Amino acid sequence: MNRKYRRTVIAANWKMNMLASEVRAFAEELKQKAGPARWCDVVVCPSFVLIPAAQKAFRDSRVAVGAQDLSLHESGAYTGEVSAAQLQDIGVQYVIIGHSERRGNFGETDMDVNAKVTAALARNIRPIICVGENAAERDMGVTIERVTLQVKTALAGVPASKMRRVVIAYEPVWAIGTGRTPTAEDAAAVAGAIRALIRGLHGARTARAVSILYGGSMTPANAGDLLAQPDIDGGLVGGASLSPSDFAAIIHAANPDNYQGITTA
Ligand code: PGA
Repeated sequence: MNRKYRRTVIAANWKMNMLASEVRAFAEELKQKAGPARWCDVVVCPSFVLIPAAQKAFRDSRVAVGAQDLSLHESGAYTGEVSAAQLQDIGVQYVIIGHSERRGNFGETDMDVNAKVTAALARNIRPIICVGENAAERDMGVTIERVTLQVKTALAGVPASKMRRVVIAYEPVWAIGTGRTPTAEDAAAVAGAIRALIRGLHGARTARAVSILYGGSMTPANAGDLLAQPDIDGGLVGGASLSPSDFAAIIHAANPDNYQGITTA
């Protein structure tokens, strides 16, 4: 983390889990265990239908509620889709875009991701853009090339003035839901490459203001090491975010009082 230039973001990706009846108890326990957590921005991303329940449950807290996807279309005959305008209308502040499960299971392309990022930013919703190599790409040594292409395409046409609202999540596909993670140094090297790419596109001031998260089997046990890396500004947490105590522990791991902060740009 580098708290001088950018926000630390700890985001929960609940995926297709939880019921409306469970949201309130989760929120109460999380609020009690995490406290105000002023050192970071906490985001919870439930399924669309649970968003109102989550907003109600977290109303008296600093926790923001996000969505897990949105339509790349503005409105019209797109049965089953949810638009950026509809998310903005109910007060959604963040949206996960291009998660590997959407890329892998629903054929989402880098171009789709770009259209969704554009749609979210047009409605002032902060995109959490997911990028990451799969196991084969890692083995071939093309991680940086793969991630560079994903980030470059996702951000095509995004003006520098909107970049400060963008969050990027580096999520190696082979680490998601597997209990395997890269070393903190390897994850930070990819995050650093993403920041260097943004620096090339938009300059140093913009690059140092963008929060770059790590995602993929983040747990209370490994969060401290990952978050101590200067280029890793938070986490996108799947499995561990379904437990209020584990998620609260990750939020506490982001507290600078709990690690030796490094403050280089
Ligand atoms: P995981 O999921 O923490 O369960 O690996 C992360 C994600 O998919 O965003």
